[in-house]
Amino acid sequence: MIVRASAYADELVKTAKTVASPGRGILAMDESNATCGKRLASIGLENTEANRQAYRTLLVTAPGLGQYISGAILFEETLYQSTVDGKKIVDILVEQGIVPGIKVDKGLVPLAGSNDESWCQGLDGLASREAAYYQAGARFAKWRTVVSIPNGPSELAVKEAAWGLARYAAISQDNGLVPIVEPEILLDGEHGIERTFEVAQKVWAETFYYMAENNVMFEGILLKPSMVTPGAESKDKATPEQVAEYTLKLLARRIPPAVPGIMFLSGGQSEVEATQNLNAMNQGTNPWHVSFSYARALQNTCLKTWGGRPENIKAAQDALLLRAKANSLAQLGKYTS
Ligand code: 13P
Repeated sequence: MIVRASAYADELVKTAKTVASPGRGILAMDESNATCGKRLASIGLENTEANRQAYRTLLVTAPGLGQYISGAILFEETLYQSTVDGKKIVDILVEQGIVPGIKVDKGLVPLAGSNDESWCQGLDGLASREAAYYQAGARFAKWRTVVSIPNGPSELAVKEAAWGLARYAAISQDNGLVPIVEPEILLDGEHGIERTFEVAQKVWAETFYYMAENNVMFEGILLKPSMVTPGAESKDKATPEQVAEYTLKLLARRIPPAVPGIMFLSGGQSEVEATQNLNAMNQGTNPWHVSFSYARALQNTCLKTWGGRPENIKAAQDALLLRAKANSLAQLGKYTS
């Protein structure tokens, strides 16, 4: 059987390489309106479109952001949104040398027949939505599903997560968008690092199995894994060197070198922890670009510093640039705290 390659094959490879370029990583700013509302509430702001627009304008107009950031993941609202000065956010990103990306999953719902686990919706109508997102300037996509260790994970939940990611990846490549494949293994739980490692091996084995079955072109994808750490409530703590050792062992066993970039999520780690762990993973030579795709670990201090006040915009942008630069150095293995 001969499988037709995506008409966008060359462009996909080029986009993936641009996002996975040395010293740069992804700014995840694709909080859904509900999640963005929680972030705004933490600084006493209402979840209005104007407040979301003001915050996102602050992020994308940080001067020189493109030196450290190669891609920005947007929520659908932001793909079509303008800054407070009326410029398209997508155009500002492109001017900064940042590739616009788009969250395309429709979120998590309970997985019937499982142990209180979830599955990720969004395949229905995905091809036509993605064609429209490409027209609007997006060049990569993100689909986040989750796997919970304390709740199992059940065979069913892992299979569903892996299959959904594989279908999404194939559909995205067909529509010109580089798929970011994100099976987040949640930090919650009391388990040790060995257990996380075991679950991660299973999840990535299945994800690659189904991606191969769906004829996904590995040179045109990016991964967004969780780092291998002990559960958040574990009595054990891991040093950056231990996190790097387990995580790189996982990647070496499960990820083909054809994949251009591994862009980690921060998953609730502190800003500095996320940077130190990334730095530890870049002390040797890796077959893939090992970098970041952080939301909270890039934005936490920035958001707090802003506090919704126009007079704090510059200080907030400086806080974002400080984290972006630190993670850029960590991508190069040159971060010192
Ligand atoms: P965090 O870095 O805050 O985990 O968010 C990354 C992300 O996009 C989760 O899907």
